[in-house]
Amino acid sequence: MALLEVKELKRGFGSKTFGTRIEVLKGVNLEIKKGELVALMGPSGCGKSTLLNIIGGLLKGDSGKISITSQENNYNYGTKNPNRVVDVRRNGVGWIFQDFHLIEHLTAIDNVALSLEISGLTEREAEEKARLALTKVGLRDRIDFGVEQLSGGQRQRVAVARAIAGSRPLLLADEPTGNLDIESGNDVIKLFKMLTKSEKTNLSTNGYT
Ligand SMILES: Nc1ncnc2c1ncn2[C@@H]1O[C@H](COP(=O)(O)OP(=O)(O)OP(=O)(O)O)[C@@H](O)[C@H]1O
Ligand SMILES: [Mg+2]
Repeated sequence: MALLEVKELKRGFGSKTFGTRIEVLKGVNLEIKKGELVALMGPSGCGKSTLLNIIGGLLKGDSGKISITSQENNYNYGTKNPNRVVDVRRNGVGWIFQDFHLIEHLTAIDNVALSLEISGLTEREAEEKARLALTKVGLRDRIDFGVEQLSGGQRQRVAVARAIAGSRPLLLADEPTGNLDIESGNDVIKLFKMLTKSEKTNLSTNGYT
């Protein structure tokens, strides 16, 4: 059984009455299995971010179905309001953004541990998991560095550590290399490949340049 299943997903924006309606997703079908690394590619404005945002529980579709089936949990959504899919965001998917979304004046480890504490782990458990995740992404020697002391590529690796630390079955990345130079971008993609092999997590990424 696929880990992620998207069925006939539709989403448009604007109003028919005012003639501003555009249909962006016109019945998307997608299946991703455990351990797969999938890249969505297409011209600007074709709906890649829209699709990821709906899968990530940040936006609702107009019609269609989404399911995530993992060992621990099942999530069924697609047209539910974002406020009704809190569990998807908390336990189902992890996010990696183009502009990292880190807290600048905290250290690498505090950035990763903070999100784990928010999801209910004790300070000690959170620190332990954060340390492990940062080691996995190759930042063991930067654990106590402030984010502002890190390069772009290192910052993105902190964000990847944060995403994998929560042990979510699916990771979503919207243009994760968009703010990086070619070399650091390639390193992030290599890291994704390594993680999908070793972690058995899934990763859907949008555009890697
Ligand atoms: N909240 C919104 N309100 C109105 N239109 C929107 C909204 N979000 C997206 N759109 C429109 O939907 C279409 C798809 O946008 P989306 O951001 O998903 O594209 P994309 O494939 O991610 O593009 P890019 O490669 O430039 O990031 C665009 O025409 C965009 O203007
Ligand atoms: Mg986009």
